[in-house]
Amino acid sequence: MKIDEHQRQIWIVDFGSQYTQLITRKTRELGHSSAIITLDEVREKFDSGEKPECLVLSGGPDSISTDETDYSFLFDKDLPILGICYGLQVMADYFGGKVSPGTQAEYGHAEIFLKNKFELPGCPEHFHVWMSHFDHVEKVPEGFTLIMESHNGMVAGIRDKDRKMMGLQFHPEVEHSSYGKEILKYFYSEVAKLDEDWGKGAMLEEATELVKKVGDRKVLCAFSGGVDSLVAATIAHEVIGDNLYCFFVDHGLLRPQDYGHIKTLQKETPLNIEIIDARDDFMSKLKGVSDPEEKRKIIGHTFIEVFEKKVHDFENEKGINFEFLLQGTLYPDVIESTSPHKKGGKSVTIKSHHNVGGLPERMKLELLEPLRFMFKDEGRKIGEELGLKHEWVYRHPFPGPGIGIRVLGELFDDSIRKVGESDQILFEELHAYKIYESVAQAFTVLLPVKTVGVKGDGRAYEEVICLRLVSTTDYMTATWSDLPREFLSRVSSRITNEVKGVTRVVYDITSKPPGTIEWE
Ligand code: XMP
Repeated sequence: MKIDEHQRQIWIVDFGSQYTQLITRKTRELGHSSAIITLDEVREKFDSGEKPECLVLSGGPDSISTDETDYSFLFDKDLPILGICYGLQVMADYFGGKVSPGTQAEYGHAEIFLKNKFELPGCPEHFHVWMSHFDHVEKVPEGFTLIMESHNGMVAGIRDKDRKMMGLQFHPEVEHSSYGKEILKYFYSEVAKLDEDWGKGAMLEEATELVKKVGDRKVLCAFSGGVDSLVAATIAHEVIGDNLYCFFVDHGLLRPQDYGHIKTLQKETPLNIEIIDARDDFMSKLKGVSDPEEKRKIIGHTFIEVFEKKVHDFENEKGINFEFLLQGTLYPDVIESTSPHKKGGKSVTIKSHHNVGGLPERMKLELLEPLRFMFKDEGRKIGEELGLKHEWVYRHPFPGPGIGIRVLGELFDDSIRKVGESDQILFEELHAYKIYESVAQAFTVLLPVKTVGVKGDGRAYEEVICLRLVSTTDYMTATWSDLPREFLSRVSSRITNEVKGVTRVVYDITSKPPGTIEWE
């Protein structure tokens, strides 16, 4: 990961915890800039003279008993440091305390008791937190004071006032930790003495700076109309105007609302958006294909072909050469693709996600990613700041392969129609019941089975629509949405009545994990 372009107040050193991103989010909510960084990167940057104002050491899966790393380079810089979970253990071990394997793991909810109210003024005597550890600090290092203990009598928090260091065995970044955010705030403002430096203004300024390097060259945007590409394109347009060309590919796998949305954006924004009708290209290549991964790959490759052709046409017919590709890449994608855990490691491919931006190197386009340091909700706030309509900015995400992965198995025109129509009904009702924004994503899936039903006086033998509605903020985990029975019943009744060829509606009550959000 490169954070060279920008100085960050706080470096969050990633020891591989699943919650590292959450530390960044909470830190930003508290008004401080931060970057996730690996141990190797910290070492390199320290060697080249770069330093943040403060370090946070994240949790991680390792055990200090098998960790041979010499951490003096972290601790000898006179920086304020907050150690969380494994980070606390690294700190305690380095300063001569004792970290031992526990007799029992503390995992999940735990109760914390304040032991020294002078080291954490304002903290309740007793509160609930989220713990996830086996090793624990048995002896507090010299110079440190015990501030909190867990209900099992284990060390839960320590502080060394002179060294400006603090360690917590629990995860203050997790929502379940009731006093967590306040402790982080106390550390940043009272221990590390940092001034706030992060907010909408700073983010927008930075995103604009990233676009300025383009000068008067031409930029191509694979525009989906979703919030990320819309915000990225709007920021870029403010800087480079009509040198930005947005292309929207119509692959024939869109819902009626997507056509409406793109036409609205064409009309109501200053963006130069061209719709490329590539329906025949996609549908002919997908004929006879039913394997989910194969469908995804065909859709991804065809996107690239369509774009390459467009770029050539612009070169040959209009003499316009594109030098940059604008993408709405967000911070979580940046972190994921650079594998921040010090030991690296590859995760298993569950699905080959495709984002239309992945154009081949031979096209020699330089990437332009103005949102690369933002989380989705931050991008949304910037979108509103830029005057984009609330309903555009809070639109549910829609995957690049569209209905292609919502008709299970082979794609037929009639199956695409069934999903499109039932989705339309679902959305109308979400709005009518005013619950659109209380779910993160909602859609319908056509199952490749027929079931028996009765329609009018006759027997029907028709297909099944599944409703999928989830609540999530990061889309990496999700829970199925528990919605009013009246709403579900209305949607079911409208779909079976209004969508030809569907006799049955079912509701997916699987969370992620183990299910994924999409069915294919
Ligand atoms: P899964 O199914 O992996 O989905 O739990 C997580 C989120 O990603 C979206 N998704 C995609 N988005 N291209 C995209 O742009 C894709 O290929 C793709 N596949 C899944 C999905 O809709 C959900 O929001």
